[in-house]
Amino acid sequence: MSEPWSPTSWRSKPIVQQAAYPDRAALKKSLKRLSQLPPLVTSWEVETLRGQLAEAGRGERFLLQGGDCAESFNDCRSEPIASKLKILLKMGIVLTYGMKRKVIRVGRFAGQYAKPRSAEFETRDGVTLPSYRGDLVNRIAFTPEDRTPDPTLLLRGHERAAMTLNFIRSLVQGGFADFHHPELWDLDFLDCAARSQDYRRIMDAVGDAIRFLETVAGQSLAELSRVEFFTSHEALHLDYERAQTRHVPRRTGWYNLGTHFPWIGDRTRDPGGAHVEYFRGIANPIGMKVGPGMDPGELPELLDLLNPNDQPGRLTLIHRFGAERIGECLPPLIEAVKCHRRTVVWCCDPMHGNTITTDGGIKTRVFDDIISELSQAFDVHRRMDSILGGVHFELTGENVTECIGGARGLDEEDLKRAYHSDVDPRLNYEQALEMALQIARHASGPRE
Ligand code: PEP
Ligand code: CO
Repeated sequence: MSEPWSPTSWRSKPIVQQAAYPDRAALKKSLKRLSQLPPLVTSWEVETLRGQLAEAGRGERFLLQGGDCAESFNDCRSEPIASKLKILLKMGIVLTYGMKRKVIRVGRFAGQYAKPRSAEFETRDGVTLPSYRGDLVNRIAFTPEDRTPDPTLLLRGHERAAMTLNFIRSLVQGGFADFHHPELWDLDFLDCAARSQDYRRIMDAVGDAIRFLETVAGQSLAELSRVEFFTSHEALHLDYERAQTRHVPRRTGWYNLGTHFPWIGDRTRDPGGAHVEYFRGIANPIGMKVGPGMDPGELPELLDLLNPNDQPGRLTLIHRFGAERIGECLPPLIEAVKCHRRTVVWCCDPMHGNTITTDGGIKTRVFDDIISELSQAFDVHRRMDSILGGVHFELTGENVTECIGGARGLDEEDLKRAYHSDVDPRLNYEQALEMALQIARHASGPRE
């Protein structure tokens, strides 16, 4: 029998990756205020997403999850949000075509403000200060004032998340889904793509399919598919998450109403730790990142804790091994889930296992490594009679230069030009769309 759960039972467990707030009274005040604010999402939406994820687990839908490594308060502006939405819509339509499945669009947005860090402190020129933990916790500038965890940022984060979500909902409802106009695909990069013939064929076919559907139905695709967007973030800051964890009238259990789909990071998934304790009690569909450090022997215990009733759609395992390790690390996990007779949604994050640092000290990822991990993921699942239910990307709708490669052949020199991420490198607009085209190609056409 498991111990009783409450939204604060995690407090009795060992916890990692939390900020040390010097002003506890101010923290308490912010959390109290936060817990009184209206929720960002509803339990109906959360339940809808769980149902759709259950379908993804059965191969009837495909999950597309993507967005910034860390959202910044500064980027809570109309253009970056609209561009992110656009690229996710466009990738979604390409994937729907290629996979012949409906796509579930989940943004890493409206709350992705807290980051795990490898070190508690950072030292520069003999000065040691707390590490930057995301805009929810402290500020990036290297001064004692900026790096001291500030509890008022929790309220600012909630407000930014609400503004982001409000804008996304309005855009989506206002028929923003303009993807049926080919001129809005901005596809100059196709001219420099080695596979440009291949891509054009897919793009033309997608365009034809959309026009055909719209003609037959006499409606625009946006209305036809009632484009939905869901939100997700790493639920790292447990005090923040707890303040948004609510009882809902006429429903049993507790919902995290700060996001539809919270996930546990690879560094906080200790079965005996506070994060797993918090996650086991909430009713939302949840994700768990699994990296090369995951011992397959530990998985059954986590499955029992996080999804004791084997509810379909409840648990998504987001694997992130890197192109080099996936072949060795993924099969034992698939095997462990099968032996334990459990249902999970498998999702591939081909970003976090493929981060490298250039000789010049810049964190980057190579497009071909990302593609390689993805295609291996498809192959391993197919070979083992398992289903890859989705993909997870760090991306932006803007023209940044943070990842190397892609059709335009960005190289190390280019990284200096438009590197804006404060944390992990993201695919830019073209690289993200190319990624979707590659997946579509992989899933639909014969492979050489
Ligand atoms: C992330 O998704 O930004 C992240 C930190 O991932 P992981 O927990 O997989 O390392
Ligand atoms: Co990241």
